[in-house]
Amino acid sequence: MKKLIGANWKMHKNQAEARAFLKDLASGLKATQATSVETVLFPPFTVLPAMQQTLEQTGPCVNLGGQDVYPAEDGAFTGEISPDMLLDTGCKWVLTGHSDRRHRIGEDTILAGKKTAFALKHGLSVILCIGETIEQREAGCLKDILTMQIYDALRDVPEKDMDRLVVAYEPVWAIGTGVVASDKDIRTTHSFVRTELDKLPGGSKVRILYGGSVKPENAANILNINNVDGLLIGGSSLDVDSFLQIIHTAQQAA
Ligand code: PGA
Repeated sequence: MKKLIGANWKMHKNQAEARAFLKDLASGLKATQATSVETVLFPPFTVLPAMQQTLEQTGPCVNLGGQDVYPAEDGAFTGEISPDMLLDTGCKWVLTGHSDRRHRIGEDTILAGKKTAFALKHGLSVILCIGETIEQREAGCLKDILTMQIYDALRDVPEKDMDRLVVAYEPVWAIGTGVVASDKDIRTTHSFVRTELDKLPGGSKVRILYGGSVKPENAANILNINNVDGLLIGGSSLDVDSFLQIIHTAQQAA
């Protein structure tokens, strides 16, 4: 399986910054022929058309994804975005269940699940994010929380859509904090997630990413842990040099 490296830009970058980043990224990737890694950028919705146009000039060196999607085709959902709107702006991917949405915006596992199933049904590939808060971990609830997040999300996903699903394990306490989960925590949790996914029809095809304070300095170590099939990166994906370094590290680990 190809390693997957995702860049979650969150609420960062305007159109000019996004275009410049993509041009630099494309030349960096061309120079080093980083072809054994799949790269997906998740920018804000507002820069997607600019990035789609830039990719027409640079060639299709990366894929684009939306940071969120609403589970309806169209209608009175002010502020929301549909799968077709994402496809129309060049997106093949979307994030669901990200901890910012679960914990800052108050999205529950049921809505994250509806988004996951709906986006897959409408042809998008999905990175479903799961992860526990520090309180849940300290209370010994890690496995219960992850199991609930996985099953609530995948209950309505048919086997035929599972090959377009990726799961990102992102401990909430490691996101944007500079604190990375230990090798042992990543190894045991990814092994648990792998076992749970393998129980589902088609689940053995699902790749598992790690996310949470990944940087060029720790990427090689994390990528070499069993059952880590790639990375989802926030802060370090905003700087093109850091992001390229991580992609090259993934190329070596592939
Ligand atoms: P971080 O964010 O790399 O800045 O910790 C990861 C994420 O939110 O997906």
